[in-house]
Amino acid sequence: MRLLAPAALCLTAACTTAPGPIPAERMISPVLATAEARDDYTFARPEIARVTHVDLDLDLDFRAQTVAGTATLDIAAAPGAEEIVLDSKGLQISEITASDGHRLAYTIGETVEGKGEPITVQIGDARQIAIDYISAPEADALQWLAPEQTAGGQHPFVFSQGQAINNRTWIPTQDSPGIRQTWTARVTAPAPLDVVMSGIAEGPVETVDGDRRVFTFEMDKPVAPYLIAIAAGDIDFRALGPRSGVWAEPAMLDRAAAELVDTEAMIDAAEELYGEYRWGRYDMIVLPPAFPYGGMENPVMTFLTPTFIAGDRSLTGLVAHELAHSWSGNLVTYASWRDGWLNEGVTSYLENRISEEVFGDTRAAQERALSYAAAAEAVAELGRQAPETALRTPDALDPLNYNSSITYDKGALFLHTVETIVGRERFDPWLRSWFDRHAFEPATSAMFLADMRENLIGNDPALEQKLMLDQWVYGTGIPGNVSRPDPQAFATVDAAARTYATNGGLDGRAWQSWSTAEQMRFLRSLPEQLSAEELARLDRTLNLSATGNSEINFLWLEAALRNRYAPAVPQAETFLSTVGRNKFVEPLFAALVETGEWGQPIAQRIYDRTRSSYHSYTRGKVDRLLRPER
Ligand code: BES
Ligand code: ZN
Repeated sequence: MRLLAPAALCLTAACTTAPGPIPAERMISPVLATAEARDDYTFARPEIARVTHVDLDLDLDFRAQTVAGTATLDIAAAPGAEEIVLDSKGLQISEITASDGHRLAYTIGETVEGKGEPITVQIGDARQIAIDYISAPEADALQWLAPEQTAGGQHPFVFSQGQAINNRTWIPTQDSPGIRQTWTARVTAPAPLDVVMSGIAEGPVETVDGDRRVFTFEMDKPVAPYLIAIAAGDIDFRALGPRSGVWAEPAMLDRAAAELVDTEAMIDAAEELYGEYRWGRYDMIVLPPAFPYGGMENPVMTFLTPTFIAGDRSLTGLVAHELAHSWSGNLVTYASWRDGWLNEGVTSYLENRISEEVFGDTRAAQERALSYAAAAEAVAELGRQAPETALRTPDALDPLNYNSSITYDKGALFLHTVETIVGRERFDPWLRSWFDRHAFEPATSAMFLADMRENLIGNDPALEQKLMLDQWVYGTGIPGNVSRPDPQAFATVDAAARTYATNGGLDGRAWQSWSTAEQMRFLRSLPEQLSAEELARLDRTLNLSATGNSEINFLWLEAALRNRYAPAVPQAETFLSTVGRNKFVEPLFAALVETGEWGQPIAQRIYDRTRSSYHSYTRGKVDRLLRPER
């Protein structure tokens, strides 16, 4: 770095050079300088120069399956900085210019597997640069759906999935969660498609060139760049409450809105616990079933799989979860992927607290018991000493490939444990104050524990010892002070599972009266090995293959395929041909593959047909099972 070109000093309010003073909250966060915050998945060097604002002017081309246009970046730079390093993956750059129009020199580095290519721009004293570019048709973040992949069948659809490091395939910026950026966008799409983004829609929709429409958006709060998201398709909107609503394809809208009637109650419950909802609106979009996740917490516009629609609101914990990210994750985010638990574990805990407020103690206790069982099972499987059972994932592991039962369930269990030991009267206000103290800032495990010690524990060595904080975060397994779920939560269903295992007794009437969580518990407690006769009887008595509940359907199909139950294959094939949610797709293919000779060719045959309809994330996961050599 060379020193002190006068314009490069422009970091203070006193400085008058364009683009003007940089507000204090957009300055380089001191956290980013700590070793614990280092993100190995970005090329950016924010200590030299960092993006503070992204302005997008993009055109959606469904035929070419590309987005093309200009990203204009505002930059804060250290004194003497001469270059900025951005992340990109497969982007084709045509030109980079400064705000006065002169071209800037740049280089695109070698591709690094998984990470993409660094763009190093010689910025000189420019603090705003415009990048003209086009994305690749195979951009990881974007899934372009043919009309046949939508409910309406008439129009194409596109959506993005930024987390974890996909957004660099359609936006040239610094793609690291600690480098928060505000953004604005102007997006052009062919009529009659509507465009939504994870920002507030601004102004009227303009028509250009007769049949193209222009949509504008703004996110005025600095967010992690993986939270910039877009979707476009033949979608309509329905209000759910004063500040919430849902977008979906017209054919889905009634069912979506009916399933989501508890949304305002969830926002109220979350605010009561964790303070004001700071993002203005809370809207959701129910995407076509190809969406690879259950949900994604894109600010002001949660993205949802349609598979959460069960007709009885029993799977809306998903919405509580994505909403909860408005505090844990979107408001206070991890600086590095190694602290995934700080995002997902804390959110899973919040999800459970919101569920308790909205759906009551019984449902919350059951969901907690399921989550506890998942964590305990993962630890038993991986081994109590296994490094990947630590909440902060060790250096040697790929942090994007974490075990969700550890990150989510052990993470939530940690907070339940602290809550139980200190009591809700103390824990709740502390957690709320943590979000306030670090709002719109990156965080690390070390910061979380330090804050807890300073503001929750105080000078109380006995309490400190009881909590075993470091064991929970950096240690392996499940510490001995764990707060166990209510043993009564599944008393009935566990007794029924024991009866079935002992003498095959099965009560279809009782099954019908159970909650979804109870039914899931029962199916997960079934013996690993089941004969064709037993599977046929389970299906007949419990009416499993007729279920409209995706979680139940999945557990049924998994048990059936694992046991080479041929009558379930057509149903599995239908499911795998429509649903792209990886949580379901990958384990079903795995169940087939694990049977060896029987299921391998079935899996291969189905995958040959369905592969191209999956999102790159799901495809990557299933490729590992079925195309390991390629
Ligand atoms: N942020 C996650 C989804 C995600 C995680 C995307 C990691 C990319 C990388 C989202 O909030 C989530 O956790 N979704 C869950 C639902 C939840 C109820 C456990 C899912 O998709 O299943
Ligand atoms: Zn989450």
